[in-house]
Formats: sequence, C-alpha cells, structure tokens
Amino acid sequence: MRLSVIGCGYLGAVHAAAMASIGHEVVGIDVDAGKIESLQAGRAPFFEPGLQEILTEGIASGRLRFSTDFADAAGSAVHFVGVGTPQQKDGYAADLTYVNAAVDALVPHLNAGDIVAGKSTVPVGTAAALAEKVAPTGATLVWNPEFLREGFAVQDTIDPDRLVAGVPAGPAGEQATAVLREVYHTAIAKDTPFIVTDYATAELVKVAANAFLATKISFINAMAEIAESTGADVTQLADAIGHDARIGRRFLGAGIGFGGGCLPKDIRAFSARAEELGRGESVAFLRQVDEINLRRRERAAQLVVDALDGSVYGRKVTVLGAAFKPHSDDIRDSPALDVAVRLHGLGAVVTVTDPEAIENARRVHPQLTYVHDRDEALTGADAVIVVTEWDQYRRELDPAHAASLVDGTIVVDGRNCLDPAAWRAAGWTYSGMGRP
Ligand code: UDX
Repeated sequence: MRLSVIGCGYLGAVHAAAMASIGHEVVGIDVDAGKIESLQAGRAPFFEPGLQEILTEGIASGRLRFSTDFADAAGSAVHFVGVGTPQQKDGYAADLTYVNAAVDALVPHLNAGDIVAGKSTVPVGTAAALAEKVAPTGATLVWNPEFLREGFAVQDTIDPDRLVAGVPAGPAGEQATAVLREVYHTAIAKDTPFIVTDYATAELVKVAANAFLATKISFINAMAEIAESTGADVTQLADAIGHDARIGRRFLGAGIGFGGGCLPKDIRAFSARAEELGRGESVAFLRQVDEINLRRRERAAQLVVDALDGSVYGRKVTVLGAAFKPHSDDIRDSPALDVAVRLHGLGAVVTVTDPEAIENARRVHPQLTYVHDRDEALTGADAVIVVTEWDQYRRELDPAHAASLVDGTIVVDGRNCLDPAAWRAAGWTYSGMGRP
C-alpha cells in the first residue's frame, strides 16, 4: 500500500521506516529540512535500536523516501499524522499547533476515500474536531494511537501489544477499519488484538494507559518514601507484591522516577483536559503522581549531599547517565539530567557521562561537564550517582574496578539497579532509593 507519514520525529520516523520494512511504499514528510535531509540520506536523526537498519534497507529498496513537500502525500491510501503535542509554554495543556498545522497542510492533497490516521497523543475531543477539517475532502479520519516505548520503538511498531482504531460510525468507518487491517497485516496475522472504537475511546486509551503507567511508578516511589522512614526495602516489597498476577512486577521500579517526552506531559495534559470537561476531580490524583515523581529527583540529590556529610559544594560528583531511560539518547524531561543540574546548583563539580545522550545533554545544559568515557568520568570522583540504568553501569561496571578510579567510594543508586552487597563488599558506601 502507499502510505504517508506526517511528522518524522521519534514516532513518525520509526513508523515510516517500520511500515516500509513490512512491505509498504512510504513517504515521510516533515517541515524540518535538516531532519528530512538526514533521513533521506539514510541517517537516523536520533538513537533508536534497529532504526538505522530498517532505514537503510527501506531507502535502498526504493519503498521509503522522505520529503518536505506535503504534495508528495497525494495518492497515499493512508496518511498517518505523528507530529508532536508538547506541553504548552504557559500551562499544563497539550499544544495542538503542530497537529492542526499538519492536518491543514495535508487537506489540499487528500482525495475522497483516503484515510487520515491520527497517531499523536491528543486531548480527548481532538479527533472529532480534526474530522471536520478533513470531511470536505471525502477522506475519513480515524484515531490510531501509538503505544511504542523509546528504546523498543521499532519492535513495538512492528509487533505491538494491541492495535486501537477509533473510527466514525457507518460504512466509512467500516471501510477505514478494513484498510487499517491491511496496513497492519503482519501484526494481524499474529492475532494481535485489534480494538475498534469511537474517537473518544481511542484517544482516551492512550492517555489512560500512560496515566496508569505513571501512577504505577509513583505508587512504588511513594512506597519508597515510606520504606525510607521505616527501614524497609522497596525493591523486595515490589518483588513480593509483583508476584500477585493482578499487580505484576513491571513498572514497579522505584528510583528517580519517570521522565521523557510522554509520561510527564501526558498526565499534565490529561489533568488539564479533565478540568476543561468539568471532571478535574476524577484525575486529581495525577497531580500527586506528578508531585511524588518530582520529589524523588530531589531525594536522589539529597542522598549525595548526605553521603558527603551535608555539602556537595566544590566536591566532584560523577553522574552516570543523562538519557531519561537506557537504549535512548532522549533527554526530554530527563530525571537523570535534572538530578545532575540540581547537584550542580548546589555547588558540586559535576561530570556527566552517557553512552548515547551526551550531545543532546550538552546542547540543553552546557554548564555541566561531559565525558564520553565512563572510566575517565569516574576518575577522581568524590561520589558517584547512577541515574540511567544502562548495562554499562548496571551490569558491566565492576565495583572493585570503579573503586580503584575514584577518590571517594560513595555511590548513590538512583535506579536501584546495582547489587548493594557487591558494591559494599568492594568497599563502597551504598545508598539506594527506598532501601536501607
Ligand atoms: C511511554 C509508554 O511506556 C509508551 O507506551 C508510550 O507510547 C510513550 O510513553 P517511554 O516514554 O518510551 O514510553 O518510556 P517508558 O519505558 O514508559 O519509561 C518512562 C519513564 O519511566 C522512564 O524515565 C523510566 O526510567 C521510568 N520508569 C519506568 C521508572 O522509573 N520505573 C519503572 O519501573 C519503569
């Protein structure tokens, strides 16, 4: 099938390349000429495992191309819209400027019978409004939210847990559903659940899923706070409650909390939208989810202060990690960098290292010192804090070797990803998050 993908950021670039990899003919469109040039030259503009390979392959096969011209979308059966919906500068609501601009630019190139498939995360009610923009062309708008995780984006796009399509009632909706089943033929062949709903439900599935995940993380981080006042160990607590199949162990990783381009802004936008709907109290708990999350960043910085006898001023602190999670170079709302910036603000001499995210981090926080080599970053440190659980720190860093590099054997485990016994045995003073 011929497909277009409007917006070539984390979501769109992966979607375009993944759709080409399962046999479709795809054009990716973005207003950012630099990004398009890079993609068309076969260079992934960000780090995402597996993306480079399918990008190179797609371009070589002739099935994948990129353009800044919306006219190139004409003739595609489905036009995916995957542009960003960032947090508004002066509030919590989602900024829909890019979504509206993308649909407005697409409309002149639509033909009757085309499908416009929204993938961006939007406030409930957006699809209905966009459907009105699209209606005069005879195209059909559907809402087809994307649940990919960064770091696993290619895998999640090609082989998702479920597919969701919000479609209008009647024959147009039925036809659009059939077309989407054809688009996702490889996943459908594997019996991936395909849930067809109305617009509002499809929009809400996405924000509800992210709100639930954020709540799960803040729940365990709240338990970490209680553990800190009682001497309990939150990681054992998580293991024990996680054995209950109704609860499950995933997303019960206590630490410095969630960040990235989705969860923080999505729960805030959800709160803002609920307020608009007069239902603010229904999701009032999301404010607390956000507050708990931000408190953990402060707590991590405080643990370093405490371990250095009350002040980090002038002390060398090595921060292991900058990306908001491993397998990504994304630093949007990264708790890791937030902790680094807080320590710098307290007067520490901060050195940050990360396998992938240094260049992005340097652009946003030039006041910090960055070192590519992990061991060089550790050399001479008075204290070390792990803030992104990359394998390079979690599995591959031998505590005895690390001890031989630093000046002070103080380690704060902001992700509860190290083995406390092994680090203590190598002479380190270990502090975790919610662990004795
Ligand atoms: C999230 C959703 O998982 C995905 O379905 C949606 O499409 C986009 O938002 P992503 O932002 O890529 O994906 O990352 P995710 O793996 O969900 O992690 C988000 C944050 O939560 C990271 O900062 C991570 O470190 C943190 N986290 C995750 C925890 O602090 N503890 C956990 O147990 C799990």
